[in-house]
Amino acid sequence: MERRLCLITGASAGIGAEFARQYAALGWDVALTARRADRLETLAAELEEKHKVTAIVIAEDLAKKSAPAKILAALEEKGRHVDALVNNAGYGLPGTFFSTSWKEQGDFIQVLYTAPLELCHRVLPGMAERGYGRIINVASLAGYAAGSAGHTLYASVKAGLIKFSESLNAECQTLGHDDIHCTALCPGFTWSEFHDANGTREQTDKMPKWMWMAAEPVVRQGIEAVNRGQPVIVPGLVNKGMATLSRIVPEPLGRAMVRGQSRRFRKME
Ligand SMILES: NC(=O)c1ccc[n+]([C@@H]2O[C@H](COP(=O)([O-])OP(=O)(O)OC[C@H]3O[C@@H](n4cnc5c(N)ncnc54)[C@H](OP(=O)(O)O)[C@@H]3O)[C@@H](O)[C@H]2O)c1
Repeated sequence: MERRLCLITGASAGIGAEFARQYAALGWDVALTARRADRLETLAAELEEKHKVTAIVIAEDLAKKSAPAKILAALEEKGRHVDALVNNAGYGLPGTFFSTSWKEQGDFIQVLYTAPLELCHRVLPGMAERGYGRIINVASLAGYAAGSAGHTLYASVKAGLIKFSESLNAECQTLGHDDIHCTALCPGFTWSEFHDANGTREQTDKMPKWMWMAAEPVVRQGIEAVNRGQPVIVPGLVNKGMATLSRIVPEPLGRAMVRGQSRRFRKME
């Protein structure tokens, strides 16, 4: 019998590479996509050797509008379909809305919002036909908190992913697709290359270690949550506490707290 296949975006580093490792360890085949083909090839070889699964590499830039269709066409050509989709690729766009070009903002929305939604839309009919599907949208704790100055669209895009995941999960249940689950995974600070990529490592290195999580428990809790049909998961006790706090503090106080803190880990120039 063919093994199930999980498609993971942003699999060349951090949380995405950890998703690939955990799904492969569970005996799933994996399809790995990101821009850096060399990294994906190395990971694919590691997983095939260690877990005796098939790891397919598809190098694509999700900022290109054609990428989601091309990724799925590449799988179809190999006769494979997607049983689980992890929309994980992402980055932080440093600077302010004033200082960044519309091209940069447009690419950001394409990679972190439009491409994940298009991938969901394209894989869902097959999942419905087969009666099984798992979708994890990697959002962020930032989607809960008040909007901040700097990295302006990050919180709104992640908040959108959380709401979308809740809605899609509810829609699947309402339409009787009982074994298709969609979950927004909302990590807080997680060790990965994220803060190197957006140039904020110097600021984030000054933050207390208890605020950080390794990718391993973040991903494990995401997979467990989607399997039990939980629409949103905030991994870790500290992050859960912060998510609760952001809901109960009065809005003006929440905004003031975010404004005060965000200079510590956001690049504003
Ligand atoms: N780390 C955190 O503290 C944290 C907290 C909350 C949420 N998150 C979210 O977690 C997700 C994963 O981030 P991470 O922490 O694992 O960061 P990371 O280590 O920097 O990995 C980001 C991944 O996204 C891929 N990517 C970036 N731009 C892309 C593009 N245009 N096309 C295709 N792939 C692209 C990168 O691959 P290539 O460069 O090879 O293309 C890389 O594989 C993101 O959605 C992020 O917003 C992270």
